[in-house]
Amino acid sequence: MQDMDSKQFCPGEFWPDDQGIHINAHGGGVLHHQGRYYWYGEHKIEGEAGNQAQVGVHVYSSSDLYQWKDEGIALKVDDDPQSEIVRGCILERPKVIYNRTTGKFVMWFHLELNGIGYSSARSGIAVADRPTGPFQYVKSIRPNAGAWPMNVPDELKKPLDAAELAQMKGLEFPGNWVPHYPPHQIFRRDFDAGQMARDMNLFVDEDETAYHIYSSEENGVLHISQLSEDYLQSSGRYVRIFPGKFHEAPALMKHRGKYFMISSGCTGWHPNAARLSVADSIWGPWQELENPCIGTEEEKSTTFNSQSTFILPVAGKEDAYIFMADRWRPENAIDGRYTWLPIQFKNELPVLEWKDRWDLNFFAAPAR
Ligand code: GAL
Repeated sequence: MQDMDSKQFCPGEFWPDDQGIHINAHGGGVLHHQGRYYWYGEHKIEGEAGNQAQVGVHVYSSSDLYQWKDEGIALKVDDDPQSEIVRGCILERPKVIYNRTTGKFVMWFHLELNGIGYSSARSGIAVADRPTGPFQYVKSIRPNAGAWPMNVPDELKKPLDAAELAQMKGLEFPGNWVPHYPPHQIFRRDFDAGQMARDMNLFVDEDETAYHIYSSEENGVLHISQLSEDYLQSSGRYVRIFPGKFHEAPALMKHRGKYFMISSGCTGWHPNAARLSVADSIWGPWQELENPCIGTEEEKSTTFNSQSTFILPVAGKEDAYIFMADRWRPENAIDGRYTWLPIQFKNELPVLEWKDRWDLNFFAAPAR
């Protein structure tokens, strides 16, 4: 167990906040703002009921990344049954970014409307004036309605015709690969209504342009989508990457001009092997690389029994990035653990290796 006053990371272990309570911010992400870190994540309750949103998005703050102050619920679920974020909906992977022009903190999350499983595949948006909230829910969308991806040939830029729709009728898409998955059709099916968006992340580039990265097209394709200047909508500029490859849990970083992404395959709460990819431009082309995990077969095939959620650049340190991942406990959701590991570079490529204990001095070590 990690002590309350500990100055180290203990991946996978109980991690107490300033009240001695295990941090409750699953599927999370971290914002660095004016010298402080803010960790946002899904607040989960005990048991399987914790897999739905019963409380909202929890936020913690820290100056050193080891010790976290409970700042309360940044975005609360609603008791009004008409609300899209009514208690019992599915609200996952919340991420917050700061818009320098509007001065607003903008939260995006994966939203599934209450009672219909994972079929809505929407993105929820909320805003606040302060990093700890309270966030006001704005709306949910299916991104990029009426816009064609920038990287598809012109002949694919047309909605499905009646015959194509008839062919697809009755086919089930369970969210992972099935032999009848059509890798270049679902975005055409969803052109008018907007693109499906489940597991997601946000990434702000050096020029303050923000991107929404999400598992789309029944989870078969990742989309990278530029946000509007106020970060409150999708801009209609987006690309599809890895069609038919079924990635989720995408997390992006930019290192020495290159974009790296760590993601997972689609096996629900069960961990699988991490996937690493790289691009010179955020718009691609994206290239898939080897599994970034080194260690035992078990560690490599399960990403240390964890699934990616965010890559956190350490403020004020060069080439220092923390891989943040979740070790889910779906049968007692509140007890999910956090796997934070330092990203190392071997031959200029990110590599992850298990550490029982580590601290930020790791990044300064000359041996790297
Ligand atoms: C995972 C996903 C989680 C959650 C879960 C539900 O694949 O990464 O965020 O949606 O499935 O089974």
